[in-house]
Amino acid sequence: MDNTTRLLQRHTDQIDTPETLIAEASDPELARLAPRARLHSDRMDATGGWATEPLPRIDADTHRVVVILPKSMERLEMLLAVLAGQCRSALELWLVGPTREGIRSGLTRLEQRAEWVQALDSARHCKLYRARLLPDRPAGLDDFAASFVYQGLKIISYPGVFSHGRLDEGTRELLAVMDTQEHRGSVLDPGCGSGVLSAALARAGREVTAVDNSSTAVAATRATLAANQLHATVECGDGYTGLGRFDAIWTNPPFHQGLRRTLEVSEALIRQAPRYLNKGGTLTLVANRELPYPRLLEESFSTWRILRESNRYRVYRARRS
Ligand SMILES: C[S@@+](CC[C@H](N)C(=O)[O-])C[C@H]1O[C@@H](n2cnc3c(N)ncnc32)[C@H](O)[C@@H]1O
Repeated sequence: MDNTTRLLQRHTDQIDTPETLIAEASDPELARLAPRARLHSDRMDATGGWATEPLPRIDADTHRVVVILPKSMERLEMLLAVLAGQCRSALELWLVGPTREGIRSGLTRLEQRAEWVQALDSARHCKLYRARLLPDRPAGLDDFAASFVYQGLKIISYPGVFSHGRLDEGTRELLAVMDTQEHRGSVLDPGCGSGVLSAALARAGREVTAVDNSSTAVAATRATLAANQLHATVECGDGYTGLGRFDAIWTNPPFHQGLRRTLEVSEALIRQAPRYLNKGGTLTLVANRELPYPRLLEESFSTWRILRESNRYRVYRARRS
């Protein structure tokens, strides 16, 4: 259970009501803690299925919104603006988050949009604030979009999407290899983020499938493809779940699960890759050069090599025999 959930546990009598909406509810324990509340996460819906909505929605009977502090302050600003844009009168809003992960900056953002801000509780290195969110004009994802151009491609992203508004250095290394490679066949971009890899692959004539477990990232990838008049299949999903086989997989694999830094997802993506590749198919990935991927590639593929390296990154290519 996340520490923020443990702190909320002390207030279950108030938040376990159908009139409460819990936003950024990525800890599955919240569903057990407050089964009667409405939960929103851009990664999962209340039943554990995949979210289709990047942003939470206030119902007519919503009396209280609890926002779990997101990793990105820009995402918090967007959430507060979107919620303020949906209320007709001041709405009770709670903000909860870890002290070390920016709750004080979150409080500053809250104070800009709310009245009667007060500290409600504090435990487990987390703080909980209560306030009255003031109504504002309607706002949506597009009001917070940022973009950059990579070799003529317009790349669009929204707050909370990996490397929002700029090209990640690791992804740049991966793209540099793509420019010099032969392009054909079907390709999977697992963890598509803003869709920069998918757009480059689609422009090169490949049949692209893009997947991300964040519906905000899925919306960004769709917006990127549309902005460049490119086509791909884009879905919200977990890793390779439900997918078939491809001629190639290109990825800058994730190293975070929510706020937690972990290699679990990347390791699974590498280990399972041969099962999702056609015979002779290739996995091309970029990673920080310190990460233990050579061992993983060695264990999962019969052939692999380093295509490119810099001070910080390595681009690997492995082939299914
Ligand atoms: C390092 S980012 C790369 C994004 C993009 N491909 C780029 O290069 O800019 C990894 C992406 O994986 C997504 N992700 C994390 N866990 C995932 C999972 N279990 N299944 C699918 N996508 C996941 C994250 O939301 C994030 O967009």
